[in-house]
Amino acid sequence: MKIAILGGTGEQGPGLALRWAQAGEEVIIGSRQREKGERVAAELNQELGKALIRGTDNVSAAAAADVAVLTVPYAAHVSTLETVKEQMKGKIFVDVSVPLDPENPRRVIMPPAGSATEEAQHVLGPEVQVIGALQNVSAHLLRDLHATIDCDVLVCGGSKDARATVMRLIEKLGTRAIDAGPLEAARLIEPITALLIRLNIRHKVHSAGIRITGLP
Ligand SMILES: NC(=O)c1ccc[n+]([C@@H]2O[C@H](COP(=O)([O-])OP(=O)(O)OC[C@H]3O[C@@H](n4cnc5c(N)ncnc54)[C@H](OP(=O)(O)O)[C@@H]3O)[C@@H](O)[C@H]2O)c1
Repeated sequence: MKIAILGGTGEQGPGLALRWAQAGEEVIIGSRQREKGERVAAELNQELGKALIRGTDNVSAAAAADVAVLTVPYAAHVSTLETVKEQMKGKIFVDVSVPLDPENPRRVIMPPAGSATEEAQHVLGPEVQVIGALQNVSAHLLRDLHATIDCDVLVCGGSKDARATVMRLIEKLGTRAIDAGPLEAARLIEPITALLIRLNIRHKVHSAGIRITGLP
């Protein structure tokens, strides 16, 4: 499957890119600047020892992909969505964004839509299958390819088939994906990241995560 990681040049994107490329997926890193996307892809390929990842601009990456994953700061959420709206029609869009309070990342400021993920659905429209996932997985953990991702990933979205597709991709990262139901579950999932940031600070670690128990 062709996976575009929009804003994949920062903290969260590269670990996802490396792990999916290693699992045999076709990965395209997107950036606002094509040259930066190409440069980061080249750096990641050097680490892999193979040219598995391509880099380009966000719009070209979205156009080429089957599934796009958004990893930009919340301040850039709506503006980035607007730039790829046309290219995303008929595709799956995975939102990793968390509306953290810019003045205190131990808190969130939820948007009027209810969550960043629901906001993405409003901006992209009904022709795009929007999924919320991976908001609670630390970039630090993803980036350490020797580390097991010892946490669960909650997946929500309006389409059961799209949730199933994204859950299969998440399991390729080496972790358990859990179906959390419709999109509005994102209202509960996104704030967990602020809690995990609190725990990271309090316990002087980088990769606090969640595990759900009691499921079959
Ligand atoms: N970091 C984590 O551990 C973590 C964990 C869970 C969830 N998240 C969520 O994942 C998202 C990405 O986090 P991150 O830490 O990867 O962010 P980041 O490193 O700060 O930024 C990622 C990329 O977003 C693009 N970007 C930055 N400012 C922008 C702007 N004003 N307009 C458009 N694009 C901009 C940049 O790419 P270009 O310059 O190449 O365009 C940048 O490399 C956030 O919503 C965050 O809450 C992060």
